[in-house]
Amino acid sequence: MSPFDLSGYLSRNRKLVDTALISVFDEFDRQRELVRAMTHSLMAGGKRVRPALALATASALGADPLIALPAACAIEMIHTYSLIHDDLPAMDDDDLRRGVPTCHKQFCEATAILAGDGLLTHAFHILAAPGSCFTVFPDAGIRLILVEKISAAAGVNGMVEGQMLDMQAEKNPDALPLDSQDALAHLKKIHRHKTGAMIEVSVASGAISAGADKDALTALGTYAQNIGLAFQVMDDILNVEGDPEVMGKAAGSDALHDKMTFPAILGLGGSKDFSRQLVADALEALDSYREKDFKKNSEPLRAIAGYIINRNR
Ligand code: IPE
Ligand code: IPE
Ligand code: MG
Ligand code: MG
Repeated sequence: MSPFDLSGYLSRNRKLVDTALISVFDEFDRQRELVRAMTHSLMAGGKRVRPALALATASALGADPLIALPAACAIEMIHTYSLIHDDLPAMDDDDLRRGVPTCHKQFCEATAILAGDGLLTHAFHILAAPGSCFTVFPDAGIRLILVEKISAAAGVNGMVEGQMLDMQAEKNPDALPLDSQDALAHLKKIHRHKTGAMIEVSVASGAISAGADKDALTALGTYAQNIGLAFQVMDDILNVEGDPEVMGKAAGSDALHDKMTFPAILGLGGSKDFSRQLVADALEALDSYREKDFKKNSEPLRAIAGYIINRNR
């Protein structure tokens, strides 16, 4: 059997998602400052890992991947809003994102805040009213479940709380647990919220859009939890040893700010071992779902898990 061509797969998916995201903006005058700020960050060239996960999950379950495209686009818009706000001076104060100036550097702080607000709000609009930009979409009952799951993952018990915990850990390191086991548990909690939740819901959205059964949701849920955490462990590793040119964002900032990260607690080697263990656990979860054709159809999901800890950007 020939090896799976992940880079071809990701690049085809990226084109599909980028075309759909462009069509989302068809209804707006592209010259408007707000629209320009939103698309500046959205179309700057993200890896589109979350959309790829949603589409790959739908295919793994034997569905047409296009059924997951509305949720994939909504999630990418929410993810981009989170990056715009994450880069603001009041948060990480970064100048470069996705290889271009951050939204507040290109426009201004107030416009960047509003561009984030616009992306977050419009993400739910396309789920509620997908007909103007998608030809294939789940029925209204399923879309309501998607709204519920995606808003939960992005919100007060998900990514936003993760950002809050991350900020508190940076602003008030004295309040953090001293014991290394407790520190690790706290760091996992931060990462599961700030990054894991949106990755988990990407997989869940693909599954829900495809009409997954309970067993599939359970196996895919464990897969997603593991790769979600692995993704942020890798982000921490890349912040230490990644090349800013390749990543399109700054490196070295975590150590500079004395941030609580996996390399800070486990060391680089320990963090890499941990990320490999997480991916092994993710693959084992996929093995546990024995439905006909799933093994073959889940090949992209398996390859994406490996990519998450072998990427250089
Ligand atoms: C970066 O996410 C922020 C984290 C949650 C770790 P990505 O690494 O997916 O960034 P893009 O979307 O490719 O720019
Ligand atoms: C970003 O986390 C996470 C979200 C935007 C939710 P980081 O601040 O650690 O990631 P980068 O390094 O800026 O992408
Ligand atoms: Mg941050
Ligand atoms: Mg940041």
